[in-house]
Amino acid sequence: MDEFHVCSLPGQESFGALVTELDPASLTDPAIRQALRELWIEKGVVVFRGAPGGLDTQLALSEIFGEAQVHPMMAGTDIASVHKAIAPVEFAPEEGNIYEVNGELLGGYLPWHFDGAYVDRINHGGILRPHVLPNRGGDTGFIDQIAAYALLPDALKARIEGLSVVYSYQPDFTKAKFGSRVDRLVQMSSLFREGTKHASVQVRAIHPLVYVQAGTGRKVLHVSPWFAEGIEGMENAGGDALLTEVIAHVLKPELMYFHKWQADDMVLWDNWRMLHCATGVPPGETRKMGRTTIVGDYGLGRREVMAF
Ligand SMILES: [Fe+2]
Repeated sequence: MDEFHVCSLPGQESFGALVTELDPASLTDPAIRQALRELWIEKGVVVFRGAPGGLDTQLALSEIFGEAQVHPMMAGTDIASVHKAIAPVEFAPEEGNIYEVNGELLGGYLPWHFDGAYVDRINHGGILRPHVLPNRGGDTGFIDQIAAYALLPDALKARIEGLSVVYSYQPDFTKAKFGSRVDRLVQMSSLFREGTKHASVQVRAIHPLVYVQAGTGRKVLHVSPWFAEGIEGMENAGGDALLTEVIAHVLKPELMYFHKWQADDMVLWDNWRMLHCATGVPPGETRKMGRTTIVGDYGLGRREVMAF
């Protein structure tokens, strides 16, 4: 098989991989495809650097990891898209989200989360590729929740055994109950505002706080600070304090990698395992990315059943 080169991510030895020298013509080779799938599950996030071919390579790569999915918030909207499998991830000063975070105005900022926590079926990941990069800022952060679980104190592991977390769609980060604090909402994008009306977000979703990764047996600490409302059956001060304590163990610098984008990068991640965030840009900047979404369902999410 044609080889590609793999090394660790800058400053992060415990998860993730940087792939270079990948020839798009080799993506039909079954051995290459299998090696890439194994790398994705083993490492959680894979940065492809310098692969030619742009959108075509992004689509060909994504298809290796699963069928493409149209984002539930994008279906039926008229948002301009370069391809039906590509969801735009864009900040433009006149339209995008702007928040004040730690005294700084940030466009396109997104707090730590996994995609789709507020629905029962969680997609398996995606590949993000830049179209327009800002002059400053605009990093994408990743946290490994397998490493996060391994580093939890044993007493805390015992206390969270068997618990689940309740999620709902919340477009305003200042109202998030958990995770990093956001000072102020300055401007909300219409995409986020309209999202609250979508049929898929009208019932809360529930996901286990810990689950076992298929194929490897590794335990994943599975909590999205953004969208979390509390622990199922413990939506009270005690439950909130426990979830706050767990999330404090997740949001540790040693579990993080912040990707500084280059024009010829693509980043693949495992959404069942990794948290991600967007650090945002100064509000005068423009940042335009396109992402594929890899269809899938880890089979452990459910809808809240209301008692009447
Ligand atoms: Fe996301």
